Amino acid sequence: MTLEDSDFSFYVRATTHDDLGSVMSINEATLPENYPLFFYEDILEKYPNSFLVGCLNAGGSEKVVGYIMWRLERGISEFGVKIVKKGHLVSLAVLDAYRRNGIAAQMLAKGMHAIYAYGAREFVLEVRVSNVPAYNLYSNKFGFEKKKVIPQYYRDGEDANFMAANRLPPLVD
Ligand code: ACO
Ligand code: ZN
Repeated sequence: MTLEDSDFSFYVRATTHDDLGSVMSINEATLPENYPLFFYEDILEKYPNSFLVGCLNAGGSEKVVGYIMWRLERGISEFGVKIVKKGHLVSLAVLDAYRRNGIAAQMLAKGMHAIYAYGAREFVLEVRVSNVPAYNLYSNKFGFEKKKVIPQYYRDGEDANFMAANRLPPLVD
């Protein structure tokens, strides 16, 4: 069956422990920063509401095609002189074949609201300086600003753009 002859839709839902195999394989297929199972389990245990998966439902069966996960940190504000809780975007990815369908944008919007509900008032992330798709996603649609470059942040020596936002995006569904 092809997508053309079936009804299909994309949606975002909370991750369960049973999804972690799919999440790990999406991570390994899309990003060089990979983690052991306990790392995902730890985030799922601490911040379950902001650990989301993006799914394709085609002809009644579900396929997990993306994920987003966050953790909460306390530190100096990126926007003023105060201590704030920050939502740190740990990792976000969508399988290549399912990109440009708005799945990452949907996960990012829901994820920001969910980590806000845990107390985060700012949102921060690092992204490879060469990663134009992700940089555009964060800056065009979600108000992330580039705050600094972190030299050689990644194991292969690439620099990171450190980005921050302090506004919630609209929640569209
Ligand atoms: N080129 C330019 N802009 C892009 C691109 C692209 N290839 N892809 C997304 N964007 C921007 C556009 O503004 C886009 O809006 P538009 O389609 O209306 O123009 C917007 O992002 C939203 O795009 P989505 O369809 O929601 O994004 P998608 O589901 O394709 O996922 C993602 C984007 C997650 C960056 C995907 O390309 C991916 O998985 N890449 C590999 C993994 C990765 O780089 N993850 C982020 C690492 S940084 C971190 O995790 C903190
Ligand atoms: Zn980080």
